[in-house]
Amino acid sequence: MHKPSTFSSPKSAVHQYSKRVTELISRMNLQEKIGQLSQVMGNDSQQLAEDVAKGIVGSVINEVDPKTILKLQRIASQKSRLGIPLLVGRDVIHGFKTIFPIPLGQAASWDPELIKLAAGIAGSEAASIGINWTFAPMIDISRDPRWGRIAESFGEDPVLSSVMGVSMIKGFQGENLKKSNYIAACAKHFVGYGASESGRDYCTTNIPENELRNIYLPPFKAAADAGVASFMSSFSDLDGLPASGNKWLLDTILRKEWQYPGLVVSDWESIAQLQIHGLTATPQESAFTAFDAGVDMEMVSHTYRDHLTTLLNAGKITEQDIDSKVLRILDLKEKLGLFEVDFTADANQPVFYANKDLEIAKQLALKSCVLLQNNNQTLPLHPDQLNSIAVIGPLANDGYEQLGTWIFDGEAEYSVTLLNALRRDLGDAVEIKFAKGMTNTRSYGTDLFAESIRLAEQSDVVILCLGEESILSGEAHSRAELNLPGNQQLLIEEIAATGKSIVLVIMAGRPLTLEPIVDKVDSILFAWHPGTMGGPAISELLLGVSSPSGKLPVTFPRKVGQIPIYYNQKHTGKPSTESQFIHMDNIPERSPQTSLGMAATHLDTHFSPLYEFGFGLSYGRFEYSNLTLDKKSLDRGEKLHIKITVKNTGKYNAEEVVQLYIRDLVGSVTRPVKELKQFKRICINAGSSQVVEFELAPTELAFYNRNMELTNEAGKFHLWVSGSSSSELMAEFELTHD
Ligand code: BGC
Repeated sequence: MHKPSTFSSPKSAVHQYSKRVTELISRMNLQEKIGQLSQVMGNDSQQLAEDVAKGIVGSVINEVDPKTILKLQRIASQKSRLGIPLLVGRDVIHGFKTIFPIPLGQAASWDPELIKLAAGIAGSEAASIGINWTFAPMIDISRDPRWGRIAESFGEDPVLSSVMGVSMIKGFQGENLKKSNYIAACAKHFVGYGASESGRDYCTTNIPENELRNIYLPPFKAAADAGVASFMSSFSDLDGLPASGNKWLLDTILRKEWQYPGLVVSDWESIAQLQIHGLTATPQESAFTAFDAGVDMEMVSHTYRDHLTTLLNAGKITEQDIDSKVLRILDLKEKLGLFEVDFTADANQPVFYANKDLEIAKQLALKSCVLLQNNNQTLPLHPDQLNSIAVIGPLANDGYEQLGTWIFDGEAEYSVTLLNALRRDLGDAVEIKFAKGMTNTRSYGTDLFAESIRLAEQSDVVILCLGEESILSGEAHSRAELNLPGNQQLLIEEIAATGKSIVLVIMAGRPLTLEPIVDKVDSILFAWHPGTMGGPAISELLLGVSSPSGKLPVTFPRKVGQIPIYYNQKHTGKPSTESQFIHMDNIPERSPQTSLGMAATHLDTHFSPLYEFGFGLSYGRFEYSNLTLDKKSLDRGEKLHIKITVKNTGKYNAEEVVQLYIRDLVGSVTRPVKELKQFKRICINAGSSQVVEFELAPTELAFYNRNMELTNEAGKFHLWVSGSSSSELMAEFELTHD
């Protein structure tokens, strides 16, 4: 059973540092202390070597040559006065060399164990060249698919993002950070970055405090409780205060309320950017504002280096303030075991792409693919009934694009593409013809269409592999439209005109508005950017070796104009209903205003999304029945036991993600129409049933009220268990206490 651990007891307020760390700080001079607060670009320059030797660099970022890393660590540990090793940071986001699906795809697997294994592999590959700190997981709640960084997120739900975030942290950090294959993780971007206006990256965010606490903060609280080694302050401006200068966020909430003992690093130059935001007038003011707000380490910009001494001399900050930040950095170095590493020894041979790791990459890709449509049970394909398959599309055989965004260290030549995997899996049994169809996903040229149509006509079935190239999502890669880019729709229409069955495989970094093409194809498999082993995973699914079992971690809108659209919305005073809905095409002329139902909806599109959160089809067919609760009312200290029978009435053994939702009917602040609370991934053989059980505690029903207190409120709840967020099977219970 997967549920977040947002309600564990606070840790002790005073963090105890080791003797080594406290002794060390007593011997440090001011320059060395300020140096520890600085993260600089790693490189092989004379200048950096000298600075490290002087002990005035705490961390380097983006150095991936193992020889240079080792050289710098040797200088730091042997030539600098106090021998303090470096934190070596890198964005290991969804793999280092072996690339796993983008995080949004990983979230679609609803498989925390697999995510933990994947992070463990990513961390260990990175650690093998000397990296000891990653800037992941990104646990920003993302309700806007226009935002390019939604690709790096776990989607729109606080519980799913919390569970996945914690799994990733555990995978990176292991049980003991001292072991050489584990690296420190970083919960980012604290907080609210995902709410940037209209999805434009780096834009302003406005999140009321109640929403912040109920929706955006829980994954970060879960990360803090799970012992994440570091937090990153966001670029974004929250209610007028950019996060890296936001004392309320970094001090009141993170340090005081949550008692978080770890290190806070700024995002890239975000301290210097306080001036660009217009919050400060000079770099010195920026340094003071971030320092005072609670940033410990400055990433890449150097306002701390340049101005902390002046600020100290002017009495604006104290040496104790500096010490408290340095202690957190030294503490992490100690936890990582860096003081014990023998950097004189030769580096170990890096280990990349181990077969067992590639198998995990395949499993995760397989479980992250979401089957959105399967008309006439076109899938799985039955090779024994096929002579030829046309594989068409710019993403069918592109090892680079399938890796997705944020893959600094990924290598396309290790990717197995869908075309290659199908050829390998089918051997000579079925003829596979390939046409690229378009030069890339954004092209408008139609020169390659004729060949594609010809191949389609000559084949029994068409597998179209379309979507977005990796460059279309990720940081600073937001979109205003969410359609299949370029002339993809036209290509689909022209191939559909051949009358052949079409299986559309989409690789993309975000939800797309697929409404215009759903009736032109038979099946749609949404594969996100699936990573190194994307091809074999998709091939297995298309050929029915495994059944699709991914579920959407984010709502797919019909139209961009519906955004933000998410399942855990508020009910409103005038909710939309089917009976009230009327499309503008059907409104008689001169209808009176009041004839239109007066509901929270648009006139030019249905109020529902195209695919709801939690949705995903399977080759199995799951029937849910007998939802029973062991009690009608839940008292303090009690737990609600929930049972449901899930039967696979289909012909294929398959995995299903069973999801538990609740609705708090009346609250002192309005509550969402549905909230995911727990989920379980189960496997049911064809024709078999399973009784799935959950246990729900009152703490999981708590929420932040108007006074920003985490509280339970007595009253009625609805509860659903199903394979998506749009379930019918409902039960009721009552919570008896506040
Ligand atoms: C991103 C961070 C990333 C950092 C270091 C920034 O631009 O916002 O997520 O960790 O760069 O590469």
